Amino acid sequence: MATKVQVVFYSMYGHVYQLAEAIAAGAREIPGTEVALRQVAELIPDHVLEKSGARAARQSFAHIPLARVEELPEADAILFGTPTRFGNMAAQMRNFLDQTGGLWSRGALVGKVGSVFASTASQHGGQETTITSFHTTLLHHGMIIVGVPYTAAGLTNMREITGGTPYGASTLTDVDGSRQPSENEREIARFQGRHVAEIAQRLKG
Ligand SMILES: Cc1cc2nc3c(=O)[nH]c(=O)nc-3n(C[C@H](O)[C@H](O)[C@H](O)COP(=O)(O)O)c2cc1C
Repeated sequence: MATKVQVVFYSMYGHVYQLAEAIAAGAREIPGTEVALRQVAELIPDHVLEKSGARAARQSFAHIPLARVEELPEADAILFGTPTRFGNMAAQMRNFLDQTGGLWSRGALVGKVGSVFASTASQHGGQETTITSFHTTLLHHGMIIVGVPYTAAGLTNMREITGGTPYGASTLTDVDGSRQPSENEREIARFQGRHVAEIAQRLKG
């Protein structure tokens, strides 16, 4: 039976979406893995998205189906991606997670693999706090937290400014959003996808 991996993300300008695609590609490299990519619903009114330039940016991932909380129990592993908002996850992702109370009461996610990836504008803008504070919710659901081990060589790349943490993949966007995920960051994301898929497969037995 295939190991089912879901990649559930929120993205406003597309950076987290790009990491989500890299993570999905990494998970697909593990034979016997089925990957579903889902985005959580936007909550910001259209006129605000328009003003911030996000409406155009969101076209690049408009084809990704919306995540539904009822689908989460189908997965053996779930990777969640969010941009940083003041060092925490985005409200759109929080809103999605706050709809999982029913799953929590049934213990529907207990024993599944949970993993998180993130994006910030600046180098020390809160990637680690966003990911590790997200872990708290996953632990309440009884999920088994998986990060990125230092066998991912890109984590110790000191030759360039780069995202990527032992807690989860990440990227840096610059304050105007102009920076795109680097090859180093994409490879860490693919690593995380492979790593989570392999562990989920082993747990499934
Ligand atoms: C309300 C708000 C708060 C933000 N807070 C932070 C922050 O604390 N640190 C940071 O580096 N970037 C911060 N950012 C920048 C976002 O994290 C950045 O736009 C995002 O990572 C881009 O990802 P996306 O393209 O997937 O939307 C903030 C952006 C907004 C709109």
